[in-house]
Amino acid sequence: MADITTIAHDVLIIGSGLAGLRAAISAAAVDKKLTIAVISKVQVMRSHSVSAEGGTAAVLYEEEGDNQEAHIYDTIKGSDFLADQDVAELLVKSMPYEIYQLDHWGMPWSRRKDGRIAQRKFGGYSFPRATFAQDKVGFYEMQTLYDTCQKYDNIHFYNEWFCTSMLHENNTFQGVTAIEMKTGNFVIFKAPAGIICAGGAGRIYSFSTYAFSSTPDGLDMAYRAGLALKDMEFVQFHPTGILPSGILITEGARGEGGYLINSKGERFMQKYAPGKLELAPRDVVSRSMIREIQEGSGFKHETGVDCLKLDLTHLRAERIKEALAGIREIGIKFSGTDIINEPIEVRPVCHYMMGGIHTNIDGATEMAGLWAAGEAACNSTHGANRLGANSTSECIVWGKITGELAARYATGKKVDSINRKQVLEEEKRIYDGLFRGRGAVNPYEVRKQLTDTMDEKAYVFRNEQELIGALEKVRELKAAMWKHVEDKAKEYNTNFINVMETDSMLRTAEVLLVGALNRQESRGAHARTDYPYRDDANFLKHTLAYFTGNGGPKMTWCPVAFTRYAPVERKY
Ligand code: FUM
Repeated sequence: MADITTIAHDVLIIGSGLAGLRAAISAAAVDKKLTIAVISKVQVMRSHSVSAEGGTAAVLYEEEGDNQEAHIYDTIKGSDFLADQDVAELLVKSMPYEIYQLDHWGMPWSRRKDGRIAQRKFGGYSFPRATFAQDKVGFYEMQTLYDTCQKYDNIHFYNEWFCTSMLHENNTFQGVTAIEMKTGNFVIFKAPAGIICAGGAGRIYSFSTYAFSSTPDGLDMAYRAGLALKDMEFVQFHPTGILPSGILITEGARGEGGYLINSKGERFMQKYAPGKLELAPRDVVSRSMIREIQEGSGFKHETGVDCLKLDLTHLRAERIKEALAGIREIGIKFSGTDIINEPIEVRPVCHYMMGGIHTNIDGATEMAGLWAAGEAACNSTHGANRLGANSTSECIVWGKITGELAARYATGKKVDSINRKQVLEEEKRIYDGLFRGRGAVNPYEVRKQLTDTMDEKAYVFRNEQELIGALEKVRELKAAMWKHVEDKAKEYNTNFINVMETDSMLRTAEVLLVGALNRQESRGAHARTDYPYRDDANFLKHTLAYFTGNGGPKMTWCPVAFTRYAPVERKY
């Protein structure tokens, strides 16, 4: 312990995606004397946010008929009335400023002919509200924010550092332990304030739009530290993942006029959502696609997987090249399909977690000095189903809010002594328990079985029998003798990182499955064939899961904030 390097800052930001970078700028601007650390397991521009494609939602043109109340209502209705309504309101009211702020920082928004910022249609909205930069929105937003970070001498980047656990005492944040991947050194970061912006858990599924690095390390770190994970059963399946990789074809493609067809050539969404067709919310479209497949109206991909097709051939080649160049390239390289000439095969794919670390409206967690923002957080903006383009918005809004709050909280505070017992326990956990662990079972095989199980048993439609089967499998994998690292290198030991990631994936999957079993209703993205209806009398509440050690999670509930709209049946 005595020779463990300790690095001290005022604010630690764990994760370098959109929320992390926006938080860094916001924190750094509070006071130049505060030092802000951004700790990331990847190089900043490899954060998963760079692959956000289609848009960032905001009301920009009230004079043309849009209005903030409509954005609030669309978000709440999209959430199947599980969103905290005050939180949805804060998102909507904060966003217009953030779009222009990004513009002033250099964001190359696509423009209309009149020179104003362009917006396109997206699913579940009553107005074209997705602000975009071609179909590479996340990439350009990240570049804009990263570039803006460079203006602040008090932002320090720690790229390729893997945070392993949180340090805390008396329910107060003190810092984190981390491994510098380049050297393999184990270090302590201490700071009075922290923000977890480490993204979602989508890699617990095999068929996923997420980067392979998007594992739930941040969620698990909070969970193991005693904080609740909220609403983890709500997993968003985006309708258009390409086969076999799962790479995303943006909803912007449907916003531009693309439509889905079945093997009879029918535009089948007419049956399921006659008012919105392919631009119904994602949960509705994904369920419709699976129903088509179940009724025998799907296509077979060459790998044998069932799918539907997205047809963009009626859009002009010029428009595709202008607005959808990224997905055209993705289609050609990863599916062998040029969307200008032929429909592309697609299937619902794991894309987003509505759940995350339980926070209040300000992004504050249950631990003093710790906030969470972006997909890692569940401040309940999205309830049971998120509308497309509201995620990059959420990252920006709560990155800004939490950055400022954390910096103000840290002002004048210092961490005098670190909880030594926790550091020693952490060394034991990761080095004795994982690195030097014993076991004949291959950890990569465990990871694959886990993610395949989630694909098979906790997909668009769920039922008790399959969820129990999945939970049994996850618990069997957890208990198997798989914790060991073959590669004994210190430097860039990706084998070790992989084992730590798998450890967090198993715990997070368990929380998701227990939550899905407990929620005996269908709401938003959580569709139970054995409980096909929404049950407001019993389940109009958020799920909370607490870590109990080696047993399963302790489950409880917390109320939804209703400030404006009573729940009604959701029709599109
Ligand atoms: O389809 C998309 O471009 C995804 C956007 C989102 O998830 O918000």
